[in-house]
Amino acid sequence: MENLNDLKKFWKKKKIFITGHTGFKGTWLSIILNLLGSKVFGYSLPPEKNNLFIKSKIKNELSSNIYGNIKDIKKLKTNIKRIKPEIIFHLAAQPLVIDSYKHPLETIKTNVIGTANLLECIRSIRSVKSVLIITTDKVYKIDKKNKIYSELDQLGGYDPYSASKVAVETITDSYIKSFFKTSILKNKISTVRAGNVIGGGDFSKDRLVPDIMRAINNKKKLSLRNPKNIRPWQHVLDPLIGYLIIAKKQFNNNITKNFHSWNLGPSKNNFKRVINIVKYIQKKEKFSFRIIQNQKFKETKILRLNSSNAKKKLKWSNKWSLYKALDETIKWNSQIKKGVPAKYICEQQFLMYINNN
Ligand SMILES: NC(=O)c1ccc[n+]([C@@H]2O[C@H](COP(=O)([O-])OP(=O)(O)OC[C@H]3O[C@@H](n4cnc5c(N)ncnc54)[C@H](O)[C@@H]3O)[C@@H](O)[C@H]2O)c1
Repeated sequence: MENLNDLKKFWKKKKIFITGHTGFKGTWLSIILNLLGSKVFGYSLPPEKNNLFIKSKIKNELSSNIYGNIKDIKKLKTNIKRIKPEIIFHLAAQPLVIDSYKHPLETIKTNVIGTANLLECIRSIRSVKSVLIITTDKVYKIDKKNKIYSELDQLGGYDPYSASKVAVETITDSYIKSFFKTSILKNKISTVRAGNVIGGGDFSKDRLVPDIMRAINNKKKLSLRNPKNIRPWQHVLDPLIGYLIIAKKQFNNNITKNFHSWNLGPSKNNFKRVINIVKYIQKKEKFSFRIIQNQKFKETKILRLNSSNAKKKLKWSNKWSLYKALDETIKWNSQIKKGVPAKYICEQQFLMYINNN
C-alpha cells in the first residue's frame, strides 16, 4: 500500500470527475481525493437531506459541484467537455435492491442509460485517460452450489437492480470492444465489483448497518430482514483504495491488457450472516430488533466474491477485518454525536487506514 506522500505525488492536481459524488461512496472518495490535492469535479443529483455530503461540507472544497441528472446527456457532455477531466469515477446510480422492485424502470434508466450516456460522452473527449464504472457483487448469476464468484463467471440478475448492473457490465464491455479498442482509451476502462460496503456516514434506508445506527441513535427497534443471509462485508475504504489503484494503473498504461472487470471483495473471514453483524454491534451498543417474516421482496441469500485477480495483478487486498470495519463505523457514529466534524473523522480514518493502524 502506498503511503500518503506517494499517493499525493500521483493524485495532486489531477482533474477528477466523479458522478454520484453526493452519495455515500462518492462523498468518501471526494474527501480522500481532496485531501490528496486532486481537483475534484462532481456531477450528481442534489444530496439527500442531512447525508454525509451535507454533513462533511465537502461541497465548499470541490473545484466544481454540478447538480445534474445522469440521464441528461446534453448537460453531462457539456460539463465533461468544459472540465476536460483526466480520470472519471462513475458511481451515480439507484443502488438499492428494494427500491428497484418499487421503481424498476427508473432504476434501469438511471443505471443503464446513465452509464451509456457517460460512455457515449467520453468517446469524443481526449483528456480522459482512465475510467472506472462502479457496478456490484450482485452481477453474478446465482449458482445454487454456494459458489465464490470470479470475474469471468456468468453474469445474471434476478432483481431489477442486479439486472440493471448486469446490463451496465454488458454495455461497458460492448463499448470497450466496439469503440475503445483502437482509441486512446484502450485498456483504460474497467468495471469494478465490490461487496456490501459499510462505514460511517451511510444513511441509506434498507441497508443493515445504517438501519442499526438509526435504531441506536433514535432508540427505536430495528426491523431485521433475512438474518441468515450471508454477505461479503467490507469497510468503504477497502474498495475505494482499490478504485484508486486501478485508476492510477490505467492512467499509467500499467494494467493487465484486455482484462477490464475487477472483483474487490473481502477475504473469506468477512463473509458473515446478517445476524452476526447485529449480535456483534449489540455487544457494544444498546438496541433491540424484530425479525420481519414473510418478506415481500426476494434478496440473494449468499454472495461471495473471489478477488484473487486484484490481489495478484493490482497488489490490492481487503485490509480491514469485518470487526475492525464495524468498530470504525461505531466510532464514526459516536464521534459525530459528540460534534466532531464529519470530514475530519473521514480523513482521520483514511490516514489511519493507509498508515496501517
Ligand atoms: N454501498 C454499497 O454497499 C454498494 C455495494 C456495491 C455497489 N455499490 C455501487 O456504488 C455506487 C455508489 O453507491 P452508494 O452506496 O454511494 O449510493 P448512494 O445512494 O449513497 O449514492 C448514489 C449517488 O448517485 C447519484 N444519483 C442517483 N441517481 C442519479 C441520477 N439520475 N443522476 C445523477 N446522479 C444520480 C446520487 O445523487 C448519489 O450521489 C453505486 O453505483 C452502487 O450501485 C454500492
